[in-house]
Amino acid sequence: MITFTDIAKTFPGAEHPAVQNFNATVEQGEFFVLIGPSGCGKTTTLKMINRLIEPTAGTIHIQGKDIREWDRHELRWNIGYVLQQIALFPTMTIAENIAVVPEMRRWKKNEIKDRVDELLEMVGLDPDTYRNRKPSELSGGQQQRIGVIRALAADPDIILMDEPFSALDPLSREQLQEDIRALQQNIQKTIVFVTHDMDEALALGDRICLMKDGDVVQTGTPRELKNEPANDFVRDFIGDRRDEWDTPVRSVMSGRDSQYIASVHDMPEMPLYPAPLYIFDQNDTFLGRRDGDSITSQKTVISPDHVLYDALRTFNDTEAEALPVLEEGRLVGALSYKDVMQFLQKAKLASAGGDTKA
Ligand SMILES: Nc1ncnc2c1ncn2[C@@H]1O[C@H](COP(=O)(O)OP(=O)(O)OP(=O)(O)O)[C@@H](O)[C@H]1O
Ligand SMILES: [Mg+2]
Repeated sequence: MITFTDIAKTFPGAEHPAVQNFNATVEQGEFFVLIGPSGCGKTTTLKMINRLIEPTAGTIHIQGKDIREWDRHELRWNIGYVLQQIALFPTMTIAENIAVVPEMRRWKKNEIKDRVDELLEMVGLDPDTYRNRKPSELSGGQQQRIGVIRALAADPDIILMDEPFSALDPLSREQLQEDIRALQQNIQKTIVFVTHDMDEALALGDRICLMKDGDVVQTGTPRELKNEPANDFVRDFIGDRRDEWDTPVRSVMSGRDSQYIASVHDMPEMPLYPAPLYIFDQNDTFLGRRDGDSITSQKTVISPDHVLYDALRTFNDTEAEALPVLEEGRLVGALSYKDVMQFLQKAKLASAGGDTKA
């Protein structure tokens, strides 16, 4: 866990702070993204974590310990760092570049060799082909991959990545994004990742911290930033990104003609299947779920204003194939699992046709 408390940095001679009032907690195993326009303070924030830059004010704790109390080497070894510019040692081979920190930590030769091969394979570079090459004999994108795996080499607890994929073509970029995401899910590293690409942030981040002119504008999950932007800056930065999971239940549910709902008067005549059957009285008031000849109370209900994402979670909790939709105590319809699936299928087809993509 990394905790920033009232962190500020003003560079000598600068009129404005590069970072100010920075407060955040990055959880263990979290993928935390710093994003914002050029010059907003992302790299400065990142470099304060491994003490490449000392803050002017405030404290940073890692695992509850002030980073100024850590031994500086110990701290750096425990934090992998992928620099914004590719910075491989030009005279060293790829294997030697990857092995820098394990060497410093005095790993055994054969352990280092195995680790180098394992990492090269992980990013799709054949060890026999690449391990003895010099960085200049690799493409920009391949060098960037080496930069990423070098940061992972000694198995650090925390990995800082400063725009690690910026020099990649879109396809390799997507590939490496997937690799990193899978990696993080498997090894549960804490990753602080800088980008100015919102698509990348939304695809990778557990949480995103949006900065502007050294300030934090909003920190939240991708969903929170999309659905509850703090202001117009956030809204503009995120852009128009429609997500079908944010569609309100109202536009997907079946209404009063749903096969899953019935008036208490009609209840005896209603077939036993499909189950369940949700019952309303003459005032449309929701009474509960049919249970044989009687009605049992049903606590799990959804509102037409809930979004599909919430509905899905409710489905996961109940295992019912349909849920009653209630508005101010009145049964207004039902949302079945099938309704949701059909809706998503249609949305997918429409977006494949190119008319819903923002
Ligand atoms: N070593 C330094 N000395 C003086 N000013 C600096 C130094 N490093 C950064 N700055 C200034 O601090 C501010 C924040 O810089 P920073 O590098 O953190 O931005 P950034 O968000 O990483 O931008 P980019 O997206 O362009 O990489 C900028 O105004 C920059 O000019
Ligand atoms: Mg930067």
